[in-house]
Amino acid sequence: MIFICVLLIVFLVKLSLRPSNFPPGPRGVPLLGFAPFLPKNEPFFRVIQKMAEKYGPVTGFYLGPFLPFISVDGKKAVKEALHNNDLNGRPSGTLLKSRTFGEKLGLVLVDGDFWQEQRRFTLRHLRDLGFGKTSIEDQMVDEISDLISDITEAAKSDPDHVVDFKAIFTVSVFNSLWTIIGGKRFQRDDPAFKQLLANVDLFLRGGNIAQVVIPVPAFLVRLFPSLPSRLGLKDELFVPIQQFIEESIDEHVATRSKGDAARDFIDVYLDEMEKQLENDSTFTKKQLIASIQDLFTAGSDTSSGTIGFAVLSMINYPSIQQKMREELENVCGDSLPSLAHRASLPFTDAFITEVMRMSSVAPLGIPHLAMKETQLLGFTIPKGSIVSVHLNSMLQDTETWGDPANFRPERHLDFNGKLIKSEVFVPFGIGKRICLGESLARNTVFLFTAALAKTFEFKSLPNKPPPTLEPTIGFVSGPQPFKAVVVRLVH
Ligand code: HEM
Repeated sequence: MIFICVLLIVFLVKLSLRPSNFPPGPRGVPLLGFAPFLPKNEPFFRVIQKMAEKYGPVTGFYLGPFLPFISVDGKKAVKEALHNNDLNGRPSGTLLKSRTFGEKLGLVLVDGDFWQEQRRFTLRHLRDLGFGKTSIEDQMVDEISDLISDITEAAKSDPDHVVDFKAIFTVSVFNSLWTIIGGKRFQRDDPAFKQLLANVDLFLRGGNIAQVVIPVPAFLVRLFPSLPSRLGLKDELFVPIQQFIEESIDEHVATRSKGDAARDFIDVYLDEMEKQLENDSTFTKKQLIASIQDLFTAGSDTSSGTIGFAVLSMINYPSIQQKMREELENVCGDSLPSLAHRASLPFTDAFITEVMRMSSVAPLGIPHLAMKETQLLGFTIPKGSIVSVHLNSMLQDTETWGDPANFRPERHLDFNGKLIKSEVFVPFGIGKRICLGESLARNTVFLFTAALAKTFEFKSLPNKPPPTLEPTIGFVSGPQPFKAVVVRLVH
């Protein structure tokens, strides 16, 4: 008996020992590590920020007995981490895989050769189909015109011209994305379509990174299918999304004859599947569904949330709103702003840059994984560590920005009024895992924000303070639902 107790104590002590040169951090309790102490009602990036204040830029702790979790904060550490290719993996525990048929599929949470092949293919073809190009601008302008009509109607129908902005931008952004992927647009008020978007939103607002990487044995998820949802990964929300994507793929197959030109990303991908039929191919229908699902989740709420924050910032800073509008009127005359106008709209560009810096919709990016043992700021990062990189710490870096808490678009302009490109401005990440949709996102946010600022004046509700800029908590940050008085300026 004594022998067993001694063995148990030795075992527990061994488990709570950290590997040599492991980064400093909270120890938690034996077996569970820091997992029980993860705060649930505080944005995770704030938790990481507090740890950095206490332990330094590289903090290490354990989630359970075997999973090291490293949080990275501050300019030097973030840059070093994101340029270290050994840290370019992605976690893929049972909980995370429950969103993609229990397999490591898609674009966001895959790594190694599989990720490289799929990312390269997706990026190349999405670029050809219009990502980051002016060719998609016409479709986006249709979307913007519909949005402007909707907002105008909503303002007209209320005696005080109050408009509810809940989920209003997600429909537009998603439609621009779906034009490239699936080749068509949806009616803005289509209930099934709105439900899909609500599911994506619910998923992204529902959990935090540290909770969903907790290692849970696969048999437990088989025994208790609701476990992922209870732990913050609401995988059931993906069922209708996957069904919608699969039906769209089947419709593409049914409506295209051999030799017809590819109409959109789904056609291009189906062609590649056929080409690679004999090989041990990574191009499969399941992978296509998972990739599109990833493009939805990574692409729609982030861009639409940024546009939401742009409108909120206009309401909170009316003189800045006015200054931007004057520039837009001087440069664009009677027309809506286009990408060709952009170079002549430095203040508008600086406003959007400041919105992205302040709102930081992906404050922790997407967690990375150490593919092998490596070094970070002189600390040893064990193979298999989850690495969470605090991008927000760059966007709020006092040394670079001076007064990071203030909303000041001018900080992004040089003496000649030209936009400054700062290497610390990293809302899309840096390195090989940089956001795949950066160019599309930048164009989308620019076109929508500039068109809205030129067409409407946005104001707080009568006798009310401006709506809050405080974000919602979840995998990504988004604006809280808000209402505003809208005055149409252009008729
Ligand atoms: C304002 C809008 C957006 C922001 C701030 C943003 C930010 C980010 C960030 C920080 C990452 C993680 C980088 C890392 O892991 O180090 C990321 C990854 C990714 N983003 Fe975006 N994103 C935006 C819009 C989009 C759009 C429109 C799409 C596509 C339609 C997209 C697709 C992706 C994908 C697929 C990844 C994973 C890339 C990989 O792991 O290789 N994002 N994004």
